[in-house]
Amino acid sequence: MDAYTELSRIAATLRRRAEAQLALGIPLSRSTGPSPFAQSSIPEEGSVASDNSGQGFLNMPGEENPFASLAHEELAQKASGCTRCDLCHTRTNVAFGSGSPDADLMFVGEAPDHDEDLQGLPFVGRAGQLLTKIIEAMQLTRDDVYICNVLKCRPPENRNPLVDEIEACKPYLARQIELVKPRIIVGLGTFGAQFLLNSQERISRLRGRFHEREGIQIMPTYHPAFLLRNASSKRDVWEDMQLVMAELERLKTADA
Ligand code: URA
Repeated sequence: MDAYTELSRIAATLRRRAEAQLALGIPLSRSTGPSPFAQSSIPEEGSVASDNSGQGFLNMPGEENPFASLAHEELAQKASGCTRCDLCHTRTNVAFGSGSPDADLMFVGEAPDHDEDLQGLPFVGRAGQLLTKIIEAMQLTRDDVYICNVLKCRPPENRNPLVDEIEACKPYLARQIELVKPRIIVGLGTFGAQFLLNSQERISRLRGRFHEREGIQIMPTYHPAFLLRNASSKRDVWEDMQLVMAELERLKTADA
């Protein structure tokens, strides 16, 4: 490729990125000053540290996953009638997962909210609409990626997930990850990120870089519901997603 063509290609990529950034409502110039989180001036997303002392998803020492033999459709079917914890008494529908079961990129949130409970799909409410915008800004569609939550059923009044609910639901996510085999997982929010990384660290310290777990690159970032209340953090999420896009591109090139 000659220098002119290469420059034109770079310019077109930069233009696309700038348009995507603007579509997310993020101005093109970075305002000066440290991140609001460095000053702790904005409360972080609700911490679940005390509820999240269990192991991460890949960490089930000595435990046999009861769903180890199930294919994706069978797993979804199993989940739809799940009674492994008390959330089965209060949920309307199980929001198992959506998108491509062959995706390179997976998003993992906390648990279904009101709209997800009604529709039986993850991330379809206001936070989900923002997640869709983020995915589209990455030049992808929801069908290109896989979206799910740590918990598949809504906790009443959106309270924090309980330890026994997390434990009961863990084999579903573990098997989803095994089946989809994503190259990258974006852990959305404190809960999703801490769960995936088996960490108690604040999301503001976890985000912004990849953490490798058993061959999968985990990128923690702020939850879209948090962004709805703290628009200034959209820029951080966009920076994280640009790292994800670059890594996806690098992996694709390395595969070719
Ligand atoms: N919040 C989540 O973590 N997941 C959803 O599916 C919706 C809101």
